[in-house]
Amino acid sequence: MLTIKNVNLEVDKKEILHDFNLNIKDGEIHVIMGPNGVGKSSICKAIMGDKKYHLTNGSIYYNDKDLSKMSTTDIAKLGIMLISQSPVAIPGVSNADMLRNSIASKTGKQVNIYEFNKKITEVVKKLDLPTSFIHRSINDGMSGGERKKNELMHMWMLEPNFIILDELDSGLDVDALKICSKSLNEYYEKYKPSILIITHHTQILDNIKPNYVHILTNGTITYSGDLSTAKSIEANGFNDYLGQIK
Ligand SMILES: Nc1ncnc2c1ncn2[C@@H]1O[C@H](COP(=O)(O)OP(=O)(O)OP(=O)(O)O)[C@@H](O)[C@H]1O
Ligand SMILES: [Mg+2]
Repeated sequence: MLTIKNVNLEVDKKEILHDFNLNIKDGEIHVIMGPNGVGKSSICKAIMGDKKYHLTNGSIYYNDKDLSKMSTTDIAKLGIMLISQSPVAIPGVSNADMLRNSIASKTGKQVNIYEFNKKITEVVKKLDLPTSFIHRSINDGMSGGERKKNELMHMWMLEPNFIILDELDSGLDVDALKICSKSLNEYYEKYKPSILIITHHTQILDNIKPNYVHILTNGTITYSGDLSTAKSIEANGFNDYLGQIK
């Protein structure tokens, strides 16, 4: 379970979040929506231990682990994965090499190459990516949509139990969005991870059903509802929710 309690978050000496609270239980799917620049990506980065986003108050725990005191590598080893809004390219490091090393580092066991190759080939095919992506440098030279699919390939191979999707849907064409949201739902049905989805749209929620939809405005969650809240925001914008108290 992820427990974010009374968090004040500062970036570059500017307070972005104030008294931010969020609890995500095992297997729950939560969505955060909110206007541009309110701090959605910032809280994702803080969860992942990016020290540029530092807590001046409160705590972020995953079960009994204090994430604010851990490195990003150790947080990833707990099985928490962020698919970021703009996935970074790492020229010279192939998907396959990174994934084999990461799996070995997480499990402490040598990777069975035959099983690894079999699984990754199935995964790229399901994501409608060419098999050449297996050996391409991470996100390097990939289009915006390809990067998102590439990150989903990492998800299937690394088998995280807590997934943060920061605008997975941005940059995806209609067909790619369907493939990605179906793939995400298939992963959810198989492994029942917890999922935090940041989005401005509801299409991604056609395949994966959230337990809660939260609205982030003024540095904190001001309203928590369900899928109907997301639909109402898509239709009417945030005005009805600005300044509301949950
Ligand atoms: N590394 C940084 N240095 C300086 N300011 C930052 C940094 N990261 C975020 N900010 C600022 O913090 C605020 C929140 O940014 P954030 O990226 O979290 O917004 P967001 O809610 O994800 O917006 P969007 O919907 O556009 O993705 C913005 O004003 C942004 O400029
Ligand atoms: Mg963002």
